Amino acid sequence: MSMIDVSAPSKGHNKLSDALADAKARFAAANPQSLARWESARAVMPGGNTRTVLHYDPFPLTMVKGEGGYLTSLDGGRYADFLNEYSAGLYGHSHPVILKAMGEAMAGGIVLGAPNRWEVELAALVTARFPSIEQVRFTNSGTEANLMALGAARAFTKRDKIMVFDGAYHGGVLYFAQRDVAVNVPFDVVFGTFNHMEDSLAVLNANAEDLAAVIVEPMIGGGGCLPAERDFLQALKDATSHHGIILIFDEVMTSRSSGGGLQERLGVIPDMTTLGKYLGGGASFGAFGGRRDIMALFDPTAPGALPHAGTFNNNVLSMAAGHAGLSAVFTPQAAEDLYRRGEDFKARLNGIIETLGADMQVTGCGSILGLHCVAHPIRRPGDVKDPRVDRKTLVHLEMMLRGFSFAQRGYMTLSLATSGDDEEGFAAAFEEVLRRHGDIL
Ligand SMILES: Cc1ncc(COP(=O)(O)O)c(C=O)c1O
Repeated sequence: MSMIDVSAPSKGHNKLSDALADAKARFAAANPQSLARWESARAVMPGGNTRTVLHYDPFPLTMVKGEGGYLTSLDGGRYADFLNEYSAGLYGHSHPVILKAMGEAMAGGIVLGAPNRWEVELAALVTARFPSIEQVRFTNSGTEANLMALGAARAFTKRDKIMVFDGAYHGGVLYFAQRDVAVNVPFDVVFGTFNHMEDSLAVLNANAEDLAAVIVEPMIGGGGCLPAERDFLQALKDATSHHGIILIFDEVMTSRSSGGGLQERLGVIPDMTTLGKYLGGGASFGAFGGRRDIMALFDPTAPGALPHAGTFNNNVLSMAAGHAGLSAVFTPQAAEDLYRRGEDFKARLNGIIETLGADMQVTGCGSILGLHCVAHPIRRPGDVKDPRVDRKTLVHLEMMLRGFSFAQRGYMTLSLATSGDDEEGFAAAFEEVLRRHGDIL
Protein backbone atom coordinates (compact mmCIF):
# COMPACT_ATOMS: atom_id res chain seq x y z
CA MET A 1 0.00 0.00 0.00
CA SER A 2 2.81 2.33 0.89
CA MET A 3 4.84 3.95 -1.88
CA ILE A 4 8.22 3.14 -0.38
CA ASP A 5 10.31 0.08 0.20
CA VAL A 6 9.73 -1.01 3.76
CA SER A 7 11.49 -4.29 3.39
CA ALA A 8 14.96 -2.75 3.59
CA PRO A 9 16.75 -4.19 6.60
CA SER A 10 16.85 -2.12 9.75
CA LYS A 11 20.64 -1.71 9.31
CA GLY A 12 21.29 -3.59 12.49
CA HIS A 13 20.03 -0.82 14.72
CA ASN A 14 19.00 -2.28 17.97
CA LYS A 15 18.84 0.84 20.02
CA LEU A 16 15.54 2.64 20.18
CA SER A 17 16.97 6.06 19.34
CA ASP A 18 18.73 4.75 16.25
CA ALA A 19 15.68 2.84 15.08
CA LEU A 20 13.50 5.89 15.63
CA ALA A 21 15.86 8.21 13.79
CA ASP A 22 15.92 5.74 10.91
CA ALA A 23 12.09 5.49 10.82
CA LYS A 24 11.76 9.29 10.89
CA ALA A 25 14.24 9.64 8.05
CA ARG A 26 12.34 7.11 5.94
CA PHE A 27 9.04 8.82 6.81
CA ALA A 28 10.41 12.24 5.78
CA ALA A 29 11.91 10.83 2.57
CA ALA A 30 8.57 9.27 1.65
CA ASN A 31 6.56 12.41 2.34
CA PRO A 32 8.39 15.50 1.07
CA GLN A 33 5.24 17.36 0.05
CA SER A 34 3.57 16.94 3.43
CA LEU A 35 6.78 18.10 5.07
CA ALA A 36 6.92 21.22 2.89
CA ARG A 37 3.25 21.89 3.55
CA TRP A 38 3.75 21.58 7.29
CA GLU A 39 6.74 23.89 7.16
CA SER A 40 4.77 26.58 5.33
CA ALA A 41 1.86 26.12 7.75
CA ARG A 42 4.18 26.95 10.63
CA ALA A 43 4.43 30.53 9.36
CA VAL A 44 0.72 31.18 9.84
CA MET A 45 -0.42 28.72 12.50
CA PRO A 46 1.47 27.96 15.71
CA GLY A 47 3.31 24.69 15.10
CA GLY A 48 1.54 24.55 11.74
CA ASN A 49 -1.49 23.27 13.59
CA THR A 50 -5.06 24.20 14.35
CA ARG A 51 -6.04 21.10 16.35
CA THR A 52 -3.40 19.89 18.76
CA VAL A 53 -4.23 16.20 18.55
CA LEU A 54 -3.46 16.16 14.81
CA HIS A 55 0.20 16.97 15.32
CA TYR A 56 2.64 14.09 15.57
CA ASP A 57 6.33 13.47 15.38
CA PRO A 58 8.17 14.30 13.09
CA PHE A 59 5.33 16.06 11.17
CA PRO A 60 1.76 15.17 10.24
CA LEU A 61 0.81 14.04 6.75
CA THR A 62 -1.58 16.25 4.83
CA MET A 63 -4.47 14.17 3.55
CA VAL A 64 -6.09 15.16 0.31
CA LYS A 65 -8.76 12.54 -0.12
CA GLY A 66 -10.86 10.03 1.77
CA GLU A 67 -12.71 7.27 0.01
CA GLY A 68 -14.44 4.31 1.66
CA GLY A 69 -11.97 3.09 4.27
CA TYR A 70 -8.92 4.77 2.72
CA LEU A 71 -7.04 8.04 2.84
CA THR A 72 -4.73 9.49 0.21
CA SER A 73 -1.92 11.81 1.27
CA LEU A 74 -0.49 14.81 -0.55
CA ASP A 75 2.45 12.64 -1.54
CA GLY A 76 0.14 10.05 -3.08
CA GLY A 77 0.42 7.49 -0.29
CA ARG A 78 -2.66 5.34 0.26
CA TYR A 79 -3.55 4.45 3.82
CA ALA A 80 -6.09 2.09 5.30
CA ASP A 81 -7.78 4.41 7.78
CA PHE A 82 -7.69 3.05 11.31
CA LEU A 83 -8.03 6.49 12.89
CA ASN A 84 -11.34 7.37 11.31
CA GLU A 85 -11.36 10.92 12.59
CA TYR A 86 -11.01 9.85 16.22
CA SER A 87 -14.23 7.83 15.91
CA ALA A 88 -16.33 10.51 14.16
CA GLY A 89 -15.68 8.74 10.85
CA LEU A 90 -17.76 5.70 11.73
CA TYR A 91 -19.46 5.68 8.31
CA GLY A 92 -16.19 5.81 6.37
CA HIS A 93 -15.47 8.53 3.84
CA SER A 94 -18.10 8.11 1.19
CA HIS A 95 -21.08 6.18 2.49
CA PRO A 96 -23.80 6.59 -0.16
CA VAL A 97 -26.56 7.07 2.42
CA ILE A 98 -24.66 9.87 4.12
CA LEU A 99 -23.68 11.53 0.83
CA LYS A 100 -27.27 11.42 -0.40
CA ALA A 101 -28.63 12.92 2.84
CA MET A 102 -26.05 15.71 2.78
CA GLY A 103 -26.71 16.38 -0.90
CA GLU A 104 -30.44 16.69 -0.30
CA ALA A 105 -29.86 18.95 2.69
CA MET A 106 -27.54 21.21 0.69
CA ALA A 107 -29.97 21.40 -2.18
CA GLY A 108 -32.64 22.66 0.21
CA GLY A 109 -30.55 25.53 1.58
CA ILE A 110 -27.99 25.24 4.34
CA VAL A 111 -28.71 28.24 6.55
CA LEU A 112 -32.44 28.20 7.17
CA GLY A 113 -32.35 29.90 10.57
CA ALA A 114 -35.43 27.99 11.74
CA PRO A 115 -36.41 24.54 12.96
CA ASN A 116 -35.81 22.13 10.08
CA ARG A 117 -37.40 18.83 9.19
CA TRP A 118 -34.58 16.58 10.37
CA GLU A 119 -33.87 17.74 13.92
CA VAL A 120 -37.02 16.34 15.47
CA GLU A 121 -36.56 13.02 13.68
CA LEU A 122 -32.97 12.76 14.86
CA ALA A 123 -34.06 13.72 18.39
CA ALA A 124 -36.74 11.03 18.28
CA LEU A 125 -34.16 8.41 17.26
CA VAL A 126 -31.67 9.49 19.92
CA THR A 127 -34.26 9.47 22.71
CA ALA A 128 -35.55 6.06 21.56
CA ARG A 129 -32.06 4.54 21.50
CA PHE A 130 -30.22 5.84 24.56
CA PRO A 131 -31.89 4.67 27.79
CA SER A 132 -30.98 7.75 29.87
CA ILE A 133 -32.09 10.32 27.30
CA GLU A 134 -35.72 11.32 27.67
CA GLN A 135 -35.12 14.65 25.96
CA VAL A 136 -32.18 15.94 23.98
CA ARG A 137 -30.62 19.12 22.63
CA PHE A 138 -28.03 19.45 19.91
CA THR A 139 -24.76 21.36 19.95
CA ASN A 140 -21.81 21.83 17.59
CA SER A 141 -19.36 19.63 19.44
CA GLY A 142 -18.89 17.19 22.26
CA THR A 143 -17.13 19.91 24.22
CA GLU A 144 -20.20 22.13 24.08
CA ALA A 145 -22.44 19.21 24.96
CA ASN A 146 -20.45 18.60 28.12
CA LEU A 147 -20.40 22.29 29.02
CA MET A 148 -24.17 22.47 28.67
CA ALA A 149 -24.75 19.26 30.63
CA LEU A 150 -22.54 20.50 33.46
CA GLY A 151 -24.30 23.87 33.40
CA ALA A 152 -27.66 22.17 33.53
CA ALA A 153 -26.57 20.06 36.48
CA ARG A 154 -25.36 23.14 38.34
CA ALA A 155 -28.63 24.96 37.68
CA PHE A 156 -30.74 21.93 38.62
CA THR A 157 -28.95 21.16 41.88
CA LYS A 158 -28.08 24.76 42.73
CA ARG A 159 -24.61 23.49 43.62
CA ASP A 160 -21.28 24.45 42.12
CA LYS A 161 -18.70 21.69 42.24
CA ILE A 162 -17.98 19.13 39.55
CA MET A 163 -16.30 15.78 40.10
CA VAL A 164 -14.11 14.47 37.28
CA PHE A 165 -11.53 11.69 36.99
CA ASP A 166 -7.79 11.88 36.60
CA GLY A 167 -6.90 11.43 32.93
CA ALA A 168 -10.38 12.17 31.63
CA TYR A 169 -11.07 14.21 28.52
CA HIS A 170 -14.39 15.95 28.07
CA GLY A 171 -13.38 18.54 25.48
CA GLY A 172 -10.93 21.28 24.60
CA VAL A 173 -11.75 23.26 27.74
CA LEU A 174 -12.42 20.22 29.92
CA TYR A 175 -9.04 18.52 29.78
CA PHE A 176 -8.12 16.57 32.89
CA ALA A 177 -5.02 14.63 31.84
CA GLN A 178 -3.17 17.30 33.80
CA ARG A 179 -4.12 19.51 36.73
CA ASP A 180 -4.45 23.29 36.39
CA VAL A 181 -4.80 23.53 32.62
CA ALA A 182 -4.96 27.25 31.80
CA VAL A 183 -7.44 26.87 28.94
CA ASN A 184 -9.94 24.87 31.01
CA VAL A 185 -13.21 26.48 32.08
CA PRO A 186 -12.80 27.54 35.69
CA PHE A 187 -15.24 25.11 37.29
CA ASP A 188 -14.63 24.20 40.90
CA VAL A 189 -13.38 20.68 40.24
CA VAL A 190 -12.54 17.73 42.47
CA PHE A 191 -10.76 14.64 41.14
CA GLY A 192 -11.61 10.99 41.64
CA THR A 193 -9.46 8.07 40.56
CA PHE A 194 -10.84 6.14 37.61
CA ASN A 195 -11.77 2.54 38.41
CA HIS A 196 -10.87 3.10 42.06
CA MET A 197 -14.12 2.84 43.92
CA GLU A 198 -12.85 3.47 47.43
CA ASP A 199 -10.84 6.56 46.58
CA SER A 200 -13.56 8.01 44.36
CA LEU A 201 -16.36 7.43 46.84
CA ALA A 202 -14.28 9.07 49.56
CA VAL A 203 -13.89 12.20 47.38
CA LEU A 204 -17.54 12.10 46.39
CA ASN A 205 -18.83 11.71 49.93
CA ALA A 206 -16.52 14.40 51.30
CA ASN A 207 -17.86 16.90 48.73
CA ALA A 208 -21.40 15.59 48.40
CA GLU A 209 -23.21 18.70 49.64
CA ASP A 210 -21.47 20.93 47.08
CA LEU A 211 -21.36 18.57 44.12
CA ALA A 212 -23.65 19.36 41.19
CA ALA A 213 -22.37 16.61 38.93
CA VAL A 214 -20.08 13.66 38.53
CA ILE A 215 -18.99 13.32 34.92
CA VAL A 216 -17.33 10.14 33.69
CA GLU A 217 -16.44 8.45 30.43
CA PRO A 218 -17.64 4.83 30.56
CA MET A 219 -14.42 4.15 28.72
CA ILE A 220 -11.64 6.72 29.14
CA GLY A 221 -11.00 7.51 25.48
CA GLY A 222 -8.25 10.08 24.98
CA GLY A 223 -6.57 8.80 28.14
CA GLY A 224 -5.86 5.44 26.53
CA CYS A 225 -9.11 3.54 25.77
CA LEU A 226 -9.56 2.13 29.26
CA PRO A 227 -13.01 0.70 29.95
CA ALA A 228 -14.68 1.53 33.24
CA GLU A 229 -15.46 -1.46 35.40
CA ARG A 230 -19.19 -1.96 35.73
CA ASP A 231 -19.08 -2.06 39.53
CA PHE A 232 -17.25 1.25 39.56
CA LEU A 233 -19.95 2.92 37.46
CA GLN A 234 -22.69 1.32 39.53
CA ALA A 235 -21.08 2.62 42.72
CA LEU A 236 -21.05 6.12 41.21
CA LYS A 237 -24.67 5.70 40.25
CA ASP A 238 -25.69 4.61 43.75
CA ALA A 239 -23.73 7.35 45.50
CA THR A 240 -24.90 10.16 43.19
CA SER A 241 -28.54 9.01 43.50
CA HIS A 242 -28.18 8.97 47.27
CA HIS A 243 -26.82 12.52 47.40
CA GLY A 244 -28.96 14.08 44.66
CA ILE A 245 -25.91 14.63 42.42
CA ILE A 246 -26.36 14.47 38.65
CA LEU A 247 -24.43 11.58 37.11
CA ILE A 248 -23.33 12.41 33.56
CA PHE A 249 -21.95 9.76 31.21
CA ASP A 250 -19.78 11.27 28.51
CA GLU A 251 -20.56 8.89 25.67
CA VAL A 252 -19.15 11.18 23.00
CA MET A 253 -16.86 8.32 22.01
CA THR A 254 -18.56 5.24 23.42
CA SER A 255 -22.11 5.70 22.14
CA ARG A 256 -21.26 3.32 19.28
CA SER A 257 -20.79 0.42 21.74
CA SER A 258 -24.34 -0.85 21.22
CA GLY A 259 -27.63 0.47 19.89
CA GLY A 260 -27.98 2.41 23.16
CA GLY A 261 -24.34 3.12 23.95
CA LEU A 262 -22.07 1.68 26.59
CA GLN A 263 -24.69 2.49 29.24
CA GLU A 264 -27.04 -0.01 27.66
CA ARG A 265 -24.33 -2.64 27.28
CA LEU A 266 -23.32 -2.27 30.93
CA GLY A 267 -26.82 -1.72 32.28
CA VAL A 268 -25.89 1.38 34.28
CA ILE A 269 -28.10 4.32 33.39
CA PRO A 270 -26.96 7.86 34.29
CA ASP A 271 -29.10 10.99 34.78
CA MET A 272 -27.63 12.70 31.74
CA THR A 273 -25.60 11.66 28.71
CA THR A 274 -23.50 13.57 26.23
CA LEU A 275 -22.93 12.51 22.64
CA GLY A 276 -20.92 13.63 19.63
CA LYS A 277 -18.62 12.37 16.89
CA TYR A 278 -20.26 10.09 14.28
CA LEU A 279 -23.82 10.94 15.32
CA GLY A 280 -23.75 13.91 12.94
CA GLY A 281 -22.90 11.56 10.09
CA GLY A 282 -19.39 13.02 9.95
CA ALA A 283 -20.41 16.69 10.18
CA SER A 284 -19.87 18.71 13.36
CA PHE A 285 -22.08 17.43 16.14
CA GLY A 286 -22.76 17.23 19.82
CA ALA A 287 -25.79 16.48 21.96
CA PHE A 288 -26.72 16.45 25.61
CA GLY A 289 -29.80 14.91 27.08
CA GLY A 290 -31.24 13.10 30.01
CA ARG A 291 -34.02 13.15 32.52
CA ARG A 292 -37.03 15.15 31.43
CA ASP A 293 -37.12 17.17 34.66
CA ILE A 294 -33.54 18.33 34.12
CA MET A 295 -33.92 19.06 30.41
CA ALA A 296 -37.11 21.02 31.16
CA LEU A 297 -34.81 23.77 32.42
CA PHE A 298 -34.21 24.69 28.76
CA ASP A 299 -37.88 24.95 27.73
CA PRO A 300 -38.11 28.50 26.30
CA THR A 301 -41.85 28.62 26.93
CA ALA A 302 -41.27 28.36 30.69
CA PRO A 303 -40.49 31.43 32.76
CA GLY A 304 -36.81 31.74 33.71
CA ALA A 305 -35.65 29.08 31.24
CA LEU A 306 -31.92 28.49 30.87
CA PRO A 307 -30.54 29.84 27.61
CA HIS A 308 -28.93 27.45 25.18
CA ALA A 309 -27.55 29.22 22.13
CA GLY A 310 -25.55 28.06 19.12
CA THR A 311 -25.96 29.27 15.55
CA PHE A 312 -25.22 25.86 14.10
CA ASN A 313 -26.88 23.63 16.74
CA ASN A 314 -29.41 22.32 14.23
CA ASN A 315 -27.41 22.84 11.03
CA VAL A 316 -29.05 20.86 8.27
CA LEU A 317 -25.95 18.89 7.24
CA SER A 318 -25.45 17.37 10.69
CA MET A 319 -29.15 16.84 11.27
CA ALA A 320 -29.84 15.23 7.89
CA ALA A 321 -26.70 13.09 7.79
CA GLY A 322 -27.06 12.12 11.44
CA HIS A 323 -30.64 11.05 10.95
CA ALA A 324 -29.93 9.09 7.77
CA GLY A 325 -26.97 7.33 9.32
CA LEU A 326 -28.69 6.35 12.53
CA SER A 327 -31.95 5.26 10.91
CA ALA A 328 -30.68 3.47 7.81
CA VAL A 329 -27.09 2.41 8.48
CA PHE A 330 -25.97 2.27 12.10
CA THR A 331 -28.88 0.24 13.40
CA PRO A 332 -28.62 -1.48 16.79
CA GLN A 333 -27.65 -4.68 14.96
CA ALA A 334 -24.92 -2.87 13.02
CA ALA A 335 -23.64 -1.42 16.31
CA GLU A 336 -23.53 -4.90 17.81
CA ASP A 337 -21.70 -6.32 14.79
CA LEU A 338 -19.08 -3.56 14.84
CA TYR A 339 -18.56 -4.02 18.56
CA ARG A 340 -17.89 -7.75 18.05
CA ARG A 341 -15.53 -7.09 15.14
CA GLY A 342 -13.58 -4.67 17.30
CA GLU A 343 -13.32 -7.16 20.14
CA ASP A 344 -12.07 -9.83 17.72
CA PHE A 345 -9.53 -7.45 16.23
CA LYS A 346 -8.26 -6.50 19.68
CA ALA A 347 -7.87 -10.18 20.58
CA ARG A 348 -6.00 -10.78 17.36
CA LEU A 349 -3.49 -7.98 17.96
CA ASN A 350 -3.01 -9.08 21.57
CA GLY A 351 -2.42 -12.62 20.28
CA ILE A 352 0.41 -11.35 18.06
CA ILE A 353 1.91 -9.39 20.96
CA GLU A 354 1.75 -12.43 23.20
CA THR A 355 3.25 -14.77 20.63
CA LEU A 356 6.19 -12.44 20.03
CA GLY A 357 6.64 -11.60 23.69
CA ALA A 358 6.51 -7.82 23.18
CA ASP A 359 5.98 -5.52 26.17
CA MET A 360 2.77 -4.20 24.71
CA GLN A 361 -0.99 -4.58 24.88
CA VAL A 362 -4.14 -3.39 23.18
CA THR A 363 -6.95 -2.11 25.39
CA GLY A 364 -10.34 -0.72 24.48
CA CYS A 365 -13.94 -1.47 24.01
CA GLY A 366 -15.48 -2.79 20.81
CA SER A 367 -14.28 -0.84 17.81
CA ILE A 368 -12.23 1.77 19.74
CA LEU A 369 -8.79 0.52 20.71
CA GLY A 370 -5.63 1.77 22.40
CA LEU A 371 -2.11 0.41 21.86
CA HIS A 372 0.19 0.64 24.86
CA CYS A 373 3.85 -0.18 25.22
CA VAL A 374 3.58 -1.62 28.72
CA ALA A 375 2.88 -5.22 29.67
CA HIS A 376 1.48 -4.80 33.18
CA PRO A 377 -2.29 -4.67 33.73
CA ILE A 378 -3.84 -1.28 32.98
CA ARG A 379 -6.93 -0.04 34.80
CA ARG A 380 -6.52 3.71 34.78
CA PRO A 381 -4.61 6.44 32.89
CA GLY A 382 -1.82 6.53 35.50
CA ASP A 383 -0.99 2.92 34.60
CA VAL A 384 -0.13 3.70 30.99
CA LYS A 385 2.48 6.36 31.60
CA ASP A 386 5.49 4.91 29.84
CA PRO A 387 8.85 6.69 29.99
CA ARG A 388 9.80 4.94 26.77
CA VAL A 389 7.11 6.75 24.79
CA ASP A 390 9.38 6.65 21.74
CA ARG A 391 8.51 2.99 21.26
CA LYS A 392 4.95 3.97 20.41
CA THR A 393 6.24 6.60 18.00
CA LEU A 394 8.38 3.95 16.34
CA VAL A 395 5.48 1.52 15.93
CA HIS A 396 3.28 4.29 14.59
CA LEU A 397 5.77 5.47 11.98
CA GLU A 398 6.55 1.92 10.89
CA MET A 399 2.82 1.26 10.45
CA MET A 400 2.34 4.51 8.54
CA LEU A 401 5.23 3.50 6.28
CA ARG A 402 3.33 0.30 5.57
CA GLY A 403 0.12 2.15 4.69
CA PHE A 404 -1.86 1.98 7.94
CA SER A 405 -2.99 5.19 9.57
CA PHE A 406 -3.87 5.61 13.23
CA ALA A 407 -2.93 8.06 16.00
CA GLN A 408 0.63 8.14 17.23
CA ARG A 409 -0.57 7.86 20.80
CA GLY A 410 -1.87 4.40 19.87
CA TYR A 411 -5.50 5.26 19.34
CA MET A 412 -7.32 3.38 16.59
CA THR A 413 -10.85 2.61 15.54
CA LEU A 414 -12.68 0.48 13.03
CA SER A 415 -15.25 2.12 10.81
CA LEU A 416 -18.09 0.51 8.89
CA ALA A 417 -15.86 0.86 5.83
CA THR A 418 -12.93 -1.04 7.36
CA SER A 419 -12.83 -4.36 5.53
CA GLY A 420 -11.74 -7.78 6.72
CA ASP A 421 -8.82 -7.46 4.29
CA ASP A 422 -7.80 -4.18 5.94
CA GLU A 423 -7.82 -5.87 9.34
CA GLU A 424 -5.85 -8.75 7.89
CA GLY A 425 -3.31 -6.36 6.36
CA PHE A 426 -3.01 -4.37 9.56
CA ALA A 427 -2.38 -7.49 11.63
CA ALA A 428 0.26 -8.74 9.18
CA ALA A 429 2.04 -5.36 9.12
CA PHE A 430 1.87 -5.13 12.90
CA GLU A 431 3.46 -8.54 13.25
CA GLU A 432 6.19 -7.58 10.79
CA VAL A 433 6.96 -4.40 12.73
CA LEU A 434 7.15 -6.30 16.01
CA ARG A 435 9.47 -8.88 14.46
CA ARG A 436 11.67 -6.24 12.86
CA HIS A 437 12.11 -4.41 16.16
CA GLY A 438 11.83 -7.41 18.43
CA ASP A 439 14.95 -6.42 20.33
CA ILE A 440 13.39 -3.06 21.24
CA LEU A 441 9.70 -3.78 21.65
C1 LIG B 1 -15.00 11.51 25.60
C2 LIG B 1 -14.98 12.80 24.83
N1 LIG B 1 -15.69 13.83 25.29
C3 LIG B 1 -15.73 15.00 24.63
C4 LIG B 1 -15.01 15.18 23.48
C5 LIG B 1 -15.04 16.51 22.78
O1 LIG B 1 -15.74 16.42 21.59
P1 LIG B 1 -15.47 17.52 20.45
O2 LIG B 1 -14.11 17.28 19.91
O3 LIG B 1 -16.56 17.27 19.45
O4 LIG B 1 -15.60 18.84 21.11
C6 LIG B 1 -14.26 14.13 22.97
C7 LIG B 1 -13.47 14.30 21.73
O5 LIG B 1 -12.57 13.55 21.42
C8 LIG B 1 -14.24 12.90 23.67
O6 LIG B 1 -13.51 11.87 23.24
